[in-house]
Amino acid sequence: MSQIILKKERDPSILILDFGSQYSELIARRIRETNVFSLVVSNYISIEEIKNINPKGIILSGGPNSVYEQNAPKCDEKIFNLGIPILGICYGMQLMVKELGGSVISATKKAEYGRAPINIDQESDLLFDVEDKSIMWMSHGDSINCLPDGFNKIAHTENTLHAAISNDVKKLFGVQFHPEVIHSEFGMTVIKNFVYKISCCAADWTTETYIEETIPRIREQVGNKKVLLALSGGVDSSTLAFLLNKAIGNQLTCMFIDQGFMRKGEPEFLMNFFDKKFHIKVEYINARERFIAKLKGITDPEQKRKIIGEEFIRVFEEESNRLGPFQYLAQGTLYPDVIESAGTNIDPKTGERIAVKIKSHHNVGGLPKDLQFKLVEPLRKLFKDEVRKVGAALGLPDEIIKRHPFPGPGLAIRILGEVNNEKLDCLRDADWIVRDEIKKAGLYNDIWQAFAVLLPVKTVGVMGDKRTYAWPIVLRCVSSEDGMTADWSKIPFQILERIANRIVNEVSSVNRVVYDITSKPPGTIEWE
Ligand code: XMP
Repeated sequence: MSQIILKKERDPSILILDFGSQYSELIARRIRETNVFSLVVSNYISIEEIKNINPKGIILSGGPNSVYEQNAPKCDEKIFNLGIPILGICYGMQLMVKELGGSVISATKKAEYGRAPINIDQESDLLFDVEDKSIMWMSHGDSINCLPDGFNKIAHTENTLHAAISNDVKKLFGVQFHPEVIHSEFGMTVIKNFVYKISCCAADWTTETYIEETIPRIREQVGNKKVLLALSGGVDSSTLAFLLNKAIGNQLTCMFIDQGFMRKGEPEFLMNFFDKKFHIKVEYINARERFIAKLKGITDPEQKRKIIGEEFIRVFEEESNRLGPFQYLAQGTLYPDVIESAGTNIDPKTGERIAVKIKSHHNVGGLPKDLQFKLVEPLRKLFKDEVRKVGAALGLPDEIIKRHPFPGPGLAIRILGEVNNEKLDCLRDADWIVRDEIKKAGLYNDIWQAFAVLLPVKTVGVMGDKRTYAWPIVLRCVSSEDGMTADWSKIPFQILERIANRIVNEVSSVNRVVYDITSKPPGTIEWE
């Protein structure tokens, strides 16, 4: 599969050089929140490439290394003479100081982690409107010892002499704290100062401009060719369907493969919504029998996932041949996936990856190499919250935009052990009650995910005068920012009680409901 990069893509106004910080992506998001387009690139980007992009400002991210370490990541030092404003954050600042003739020391005794009030020493564009003694978030072992010529100290903390520095003539700035993290009280003020006051960026990155720019680009890329999209009903593929429908109308065919693991009413909802209401061509593929037959006797969670992934590809292959040929495949790849898979920090000399990142989602599986589609991936520069805004602007309802994440293999990974139709029906009914009650209680939008899990063990209960022997349902409700860490939701007892009562009364074969109070880590969100 090859990916077409169009020439006229928007260049970022702010370029972020990634030195392996866990926060690089967050810096990009924060800048986009100011309506300025930013991208994360490798620290090894060449000067020619930077000149080509011609950003209005550059940010050097933090990173886990010490600048004097043998293989400490660097960037081309000519970057400091381009005349482009630069903000170094933590490691980025230390690198700038070292490269320009200053020095950095290991501050093992005075390492500073967490909240620290900053004392402003001098007026500067960078700290304009930042309150003296406000809290900033620190996370560093090393500190600046000696500033390069032309630099001034503009703020300090109790433990850090150079908490912020500036060279106003060359427009080079550095902060030892992390303005991008939410706990830094005036962090956004610092970011806005750098973006607007110092780099003079225009606030031109909006949902509307994204849609305006993307539609002609999709048309240019696709021409009069046919495009296939696997619709899942999630916010990404739904937004993509709306965007492509607007750009290329009936050159688009959506395929919805129903593997039988969707939630109650979802296949019907999707077909009614896309096909009937919005006249977006959706081919409904009923593959329920195929999937359930493949899972017969399978209890191992990894094997279940593998079988579902492989069967999905097989159905996809057969159906795309039947409905096609299609020259293009549309995929809802998002920017975090691009950053993760692009290897932004592969050292070209050693081939080693520098950033240590945990994958933010699990893919169902890749397509076989011989399926020769070209890719249309118009969302690949967007963060999830940006996709939601685009979806809303294109007319998608809250029901899709604010939908909780739902795993590709669906309810099959929420039934432990073997999956069969009886358990699926049971879980579907329980899951429907969970969502219904969470929505009625007005909690749906505050919760990351709320769902039911079926445990394949039978426990004793009593209903009426009869003894029962039935399955327990686990209720799992978590709050999270991105699914990578999560906390269990402190749902009021009355609501838990109502959900449990309804499940036990309305769902046959369930006689017990338990609530999962494990955070992630050490637990995961799904039970599998
Ligand atoms: P875990 O269980 O690893 O889940 O804590 C983290 C987040 O990922 C979702 N998830 C998936 N999403 N395909 C997906 O698109 C999958 O196979 C898959 N497995 C887990 C999960 O629902 C949670 O939001």
